[in-house]
Amino acid sequence: MYEFKDTYKTNVDFVDKEHRRLFEIAEEAYQLQQNEFIPDKYDHIVTILEELRAYTKTHFAHEEAYMKKIGYKGMFTQKVQHDAFIQKLDGIDLGALDENSDEAISDILKFLTDWLVDHILNVDKLLPAEEG
Ligand SMILES: [Fe+2]
Ligand SMILES: [Fe+2]
Repeated sequence: MYEFKDTYKTNVDFVDKEHRRLFEIAEEAYQLQQNEFIPDKYDHIVTILEELRAYTKTHFAHEEAYMKKIGYKGMFTQKVQHDAFIQKLDGIDLGALDENSDEAISDILKFLTDWLVDHILNVDKLLPAEEG
């Protein structure tokens, strides 16, 4: 359902690796949600969604450190988008998800991956490669 595609590739290797990982975590949550034979899977899904939220923040911090290091002019646009998205992510109450929350879980995964794809294609792809 969720996977990193070649069209998402940027000019920066570590950025691609981290994006790939984000899609992997999303897919992990999705697969678990689809599996009907795992007892108490909702606790596990919430844990994965928490990991996804945390790793998204880590990834933004890495990207911003990179932009700072290379003196990237587009950093402000990036930071505004990252910060706005973090605010939205933090507004999601993962603790409220339970066995009745299938639709909410699907919505969270879709919201997150849609945002990522859009941001990667329109903003992260503009990042220049590191020189040297
Ligand atoms: Fe990114
Ligand atoms: Fe970004």
